Amino acid sequence: MKDDISKVAIVTGAGQGIGRAIAHRLARDGFAVAIVDINADALDEVKKEIEGLGGQTLALKADLTKLDDIKKVIDRAAEWGQLTVLVNNAGRVIITPFLEISEHEWDAIMTLNLKTVFFATQFAARHMQNGARVINLSSISGRSGRSDQAHYAAAKCAVISITQSAALSFASQGITVNAVCPGVVDTPMTTGIHEIRASALGITPEESLARMVAKIPLGRLETTEDVAGAISFLCSPDASYITGQSLNVDGGMEMN
Ligand SMILES: NC(=O)c1ccc[n+]([C@@H]2O[C@H](COP(=O)([O-])OP(=O)(O)OC[C@H]3O[C@@H](n4cnc5c(N)ncnc54)[C@H](O)[C@@H]3O)[C@@H](O)[C@H]2O)c1
Repeated sequence: MKDDISKVAIVTGAGQGIGRAIAHRLARDGFAVAIVDINADALDEVKKEIEGLGGQTLALKADLTKLDDIKKVIDRAAEWGQLTVLVNNAGRVIITPFLEISEHEWDAIMTLNLKTVFFATQFAARHMQNGARVINLSSISGRSGRSDQAHYAAAKCAVISITQSAALSFASQGITVNAVCPGVVDTPMTTGIHEIRASALGITPEESLARMVAKIPLGRLETTEDVAGAISFLCSPDASYITGQSLNVDGGMEMN
């Protein structure tokens, strides 16, 4: 028997960064938000924040590289109420030159960024009804090659493909599937990237990030709210005729 909750949105990787902002935004939009993360302490914080603002949350700790964990959290969220939105946000990057990427590193990147997205979508779609939405986090790294993150770029490119295949698979059920490709977002992931790039170049992380920001046509670092706003739109009634699309939300870095 379902709890008395009407519209449930699952946000994976909601403990920090973009996922946290998406969880806040969807709670403000009126969704009951099932927040999922491997970091239980971070989840507790986000749960308190959202409940403090009057939102409803269910915090589910899971290691989303494990199929059993993916299934458990999706089934639990679907028991909580009608599963209406899945945001596949959890992801990770490792900065390594092409020639140094190991099999272990390849598998780790492909698992969370790609396999998890596929199976979470498969498990969630079984619970979804007409009008439901799946949103996947791809990246501008999925739009063109990257010399120091070839595996990550390949996974994010494949997320665009899975988005299209899922959109075709579920269109007849009225479920839309879209992706968002953020650019350079102010999160712990970006901080980590520029610490590594800076040490390779012998500059400070701040200089490394500033060089990247200088390449953004809109001239500023992306905020987590910039991404959350686009996802809010894709979950809204105004986006009901959009499916299979991958939307660059990147200040103009990619224009395809
Ligand atoms: N930060 C950027 O500039 C940027 C740009 C483009 C795309 N993205 C994508 O956006 C998404 C979010 O990025 P972010 O910058 O907020 O990342 P982040 O590293 O700041 O946060 C990721 C969250 O995922 C959680 N997580 C990691 N492994 C997990 C696992 N096995 N199971 C469950 N949760 C796990 C972490 O605990 C963390 O809370 C990712 O898919 C990322 O690839 C980020």
